[in-house]
Amino acid sequence: MYQQLCALLIIILCICGQCQSEQSFGIDFDRNTFVKDGKPFQYISGSIHMYRMPREYWNDRLEKMWAAGLNAIQTYVFWDQHELVEGVYNFDDTNDLVAFLQLAQKIGFVIILRVGPYICGEHEFGGFPWWLLRDLTDIQFRRMNSVYLNAVTRWMSVLLPKIRPLLYNNGGPVITVQVENEYGSYKACDHDYTSYLRDIFRQNLGDNVALFTTDCNGPHYLECGTTKGAYSTVNFGIKTNITEAFRYQRMYAPHGPLVNSEFYPGWLDLWGNNHAKVSTSDIIETLDEMLSTGVNVNIYMFFGGTNFGFTSGADPDYQPQPTSYDYDAPISEAGDIT
Ligand SMILES: *[C@@H]1O[C@H](CO)[C@@H](O)[C@H](O)[C@H]1NC(C)=O
Repeated sequence: MYQQLCALLIIILCICGQCQSEQSFGIDFDRNTFVKDGKPFQYISGSIHMYRMPREYWNDRLEKMWAAGLNAIQTYVFWDQHELVEGVYNFDDTNDLVAFLQLAQKIGFVIILRVGPYICGEHEFGGFPWWLLRDLTDIQFRRMNSVYLNAVTRWMSVLLPKIRPLLYNNGGPVITVQVENEYGSYKACDHDYTSYLRDIFRQNLGDNVALFTTDCNGPHYLECGTTKGAYSTVNFGIKTNITEAFRYQRMYAPHGPLVNSEFYPGWLDLWGNNHAKVSTSDIIETLDEMLSTGVNVNIYMFFGGTNFGFTSGADPDYQPQPTSYDYDAPISEAGDIT
């Protein structure tokens, strides 16, 4: 009986050991591809933000994305929603990030995570909490500034430990994590700041995850947006010559997979303008070309949803956006398949 128990225990331990070592994700620089569980992997992803819909719709929207044939989702973390009051963190209800990521994993997705701290001007104050504006004498945003970085470092020491067990190599769904956000579009171009951020990410996440950056497709953007130790990718939309488009990524990532981190099937709306509409045949043409040449692509947005309350952002010259973030996306603001 004792021997049988031992044998059973050994079998159980072996099975569990296998489960843990089975999941692996990384970049194969020789074969120019991502590698998942030992095999070349091409992601076909769509953007969706949990805050831009009621929690009751999370499952419906994600299942529709899975039915569309995507194998990945890309999603932002909105810092301002989690730290409404300085030092008080809210991860409940609509803010339950871990539950959202686990739901996506259960459906079958892997996840490309964009944790900011800045996360795009299309959300109020780029996702920064309002209280950072209380004292404007000493703070400077998105650069090597101690007031700003103290707040960022404290937030990341709360957020990133929640993400660490969800990394693909730790048994979770998260395959890559972005450092900053399209930083090459910001005038500061402070490489010390992006290096500092990268180091905070490494401290809190460990070495076993691919970090990346993404930028608008041009040499100046990549020069300021790229950080050593994070994989450089680009964003571009329809009617682009993709051979030419990836020339710039190759300047900063000479080896590794080709990645379009934001391919636009629509566009944001601005107050007073007509609802954005993009030609479906143009989208399909460029998307088909990328997919058939092995490009990893994320469709931004696949489901846009709603900017609730006063959370909508603005475009340059402070042209405000409406509450709708429909984006002319494949799944409409109301959740319909278009
Ligand atoms: C795309 O650009 C490449 C390189 O410049 C060129 O050889 C090719 O003809 C272009 N393709 C189209 C469809 O314009």
